[in-house]
Amino acid sequence: MNSKVTEIKNLFDAKISSVTTSDNVEELRVEFLGKKGHIAALMGELKNVPNEEKKEFGRVVNVLKQEIEQTISEKKDALIKEEQQKIIDSAEQYDESLPYDIQTGSYHPITLVSRDLERIFASMGFSIEDYSEIVDDYHCFEALNIPKHHPARDMQDTYYLSTENQLLKTHTSAAQNAIMKKYGAPLRAIFPGRCFRNESTDASHENTFFQMEGIMIDKDISISNLIYFMKTMLSEVFQKDVTVRLRPGFFPFVEPGFELDIKCLICGGDGCPSCKNSGWLELCPCGMIHPNVLRHGGIDPEEYTGFAFGLGLTRLAMMKYGVKDIRMFNSGSLKSLSQFKNE
Ligand code: DAH
Repeated sequence: MNSKVTEIKNLFDAKISSVTTSDNVEELRVEFLGKKGHIAALMGELKNVPNEEKKEFGRVVNVLKQEIEQTISEKKDALIKEEQQKIIDSAEQYDESLPYDIQTGSYHPITLVSRDLERIFASMGFSIEDYSEIVDDYHCFEALNIPKHHPARDMQDTYYLSTENQLLKTHTSAAQNAIMKKYGAPLRAIFPGRCFRNESTDASHENTFFQMEGIMIDKDISISNLIYFMKTMLSEVFQKDVTVRLRPGFFPFVEPGFELDIKCLICGGDGCPSCKNSGWLELCPCGMIHPNVLRHGGIDPEEYTGFAFGLGLTRLAMMKYGVKDIRMFNSGSLKSLSQFKNE
């Protein structure tokens, strides 16, 4: 009977040595170990084996079965590895030196100008603050010395929310009070932000635009400090020395208040269409913070003084990049907006 076992063993050895794929190995497994396979057939022979040999026969068949199982599993693993390696070797190789065409995005011009200013002010010790676009009447007006029914409110008609007292901020000055309360004095901070006003739009008016507010509060801050910081900032932005002048301007939250003009960079002050022939461009309203505003912010005006400015970021971007229509900024037109690069 053992000769049958040997025969099956030889048959298996011969077949396993010639298989070349993992699928072939699987076929062999079915042929030898399957329900109707050779091992099952050998087991079926058990009934014909004389009783005294049954035990030995069963043992020998079992040994052969285990041997076949092991060989099949090892062979299958080895062939699968080989096959995977072949797939990897034959796959298209990735060559990172080949040119590729991926469209990278670009920053919005307002972002470019804003980052430029943030860098300049950060280098002068100012912190950069964020503030919400929805504010209440107190922060947008009352804390800035603009009581209810004050005519200065007429200039800043905005969008009121149905929730009581909430509105979209009309100017970045709306953050002054919260920032004073957050840090106290002394304080240097800028806060860029989106502002909203109920305006009909045209080439130079938008209902949604950006400003950058700045405040500096300390002992003995004077108009000279204000002029120095404004000049330094503008020279950096335009990468040339700028001449500035102050004209009186009225804003309830500063006293005295100014309009800061720069000498036209296009004509050098001689007069051209860009400066409406005046030689000067209005750029940045500013002033010394009104004592009432400091008081609202929890700062003692007897001890501290400070200046504030509200730079029109959108205006600055228009000047810096020569944009003639303000509506381009919110147009979402990639054709226009993707042209701006920070040099
Ligand atoms: N918030 C004012 C506006 O949007 C601009 C402004 C004027 C801001 C004078 C200031 C300032 O900080 O001192 O019309």
